[in-house]
Amino acid sequence: MQKKKLIILVTGSNGQLGRSFKSLQPDFPDYDFIFTDVDELDITDHKAVSEFFRVVNPDFCINAAAYTAVDKAETEKELCASINKTGPKNLALACQKSDCILIHISTDYVYDCCDNEILSENSPVSPKSWYAISKLEGEREIINILKNHIIIRTSWLYSEFGHNFVKTIIRLAKERKELKVVNDQIGSPTYAPDLALTILNIINNSCNFGIYNYSNEGFISWYDFATEIIKIKNLECSLMPINTSDYPTPAPRPKNSRLSKEKIINAFHIAIPQWFESLKICLERI
Ligand SMILES: NC(=O)c1ccc[n+]([C@@H]2O[C@H](COP(=O)([O-])OP(=O)(O)OC[C@H]3O[C@@H](n4cnc5c(N)ncnc54)[C@H](OP(=O)(O)O)[C@@H]3O)[C@@H](O)[C@H]2O)c1
Repeated sequence: MQKKKLIILVTGSNGQLGRSFKSLQPDFPDYDFIFTDVDELDITDHKAVSEFFRVVNPDFCINAAAYTAVDKAETEKELCASINKTGPKNLALACQKSDCILIHISTDYVYDCCDNEILSENSPVSPKSWYAISKLEGEREIINILKNHIIIRTSWLYSEFGHNFVKTIIRLAKERKELKVVNDQIGSPTYAPDLALTILNIINNSCNFGIYNYSNEGFISWYDFATEIIKIKNLECSLMPINTSDYPTPAPRPKNSRLSKEKIINAFHIAIPQWFESLKICLERI
């Protein structure tokens, strides 16, 4: 008899993480993927989510849907909260009913603390922007409703898909002779296909429920990141390091995003690529 394929629902699948899952689909023929974005499944619509789960009955739901316009969120608090808090709540309720495991993506912005310390999943949370608050509230909704969850806090996501820092630097470096880049926010970039691959690899080992950090290995500043992008792409543009205070934004950014990945490495026996190795791969694909 043929083994039943696991049904994996990916929400927000037109975003950069969602598209990374799509790109990996051919490597996982044992999974039946269902990709949705807001037009097919609006995660803020409780009834629609509940009905969709009743019909599709997924084994896993990977929530890559989110409101990610960090600065705009300062003036669109309600919309941001409905996508980042109510959305995960609706998914958790539907997962509970359908006995489905929820894998939800969160952010390093929930920490925003602890100076130069390396942040473990037990480090204190202290979100400073409406985006960060909404992401923490989304996590809490899930934890309160559903035991079978994995929440992954990631940072500085980039890829060949959608808009992100890497693409912005390449574009600006072609347009300008000099660029100023922040040098006092320290963290790790995360290549979205690395994160997507990790999730698909750990999915079947998923009784290790809980919160996990994930980013590529190595700690750098945005200035370091931009320097490497310019170098690999051989672009003629000089970079000037600046402080966060010289580049004010409506929403504050955490200065410390040094995520410890020890917990996810030990729980799932995974290896995480160094940031510069993944950057090279991404730049070849752009
Ligand atoms: N980007 C980063 O640097 C970063 C860093 C840390 C953590 N994260 C987290 O990583 C996850 C993935 O981020 P990403 O960069 O892939 O985000 P993204 O590119 O903005 O993708 C999010 C997707 O969700 C869709 N969406 C919005 N509202 C929805 C709704 N009500 N129902 C269903 N889909 C909806 C968006 O559609 P529209 O485009 O039409 O709105 C978009 O296609 C998010 O949880 C984010 O918070 C991101």
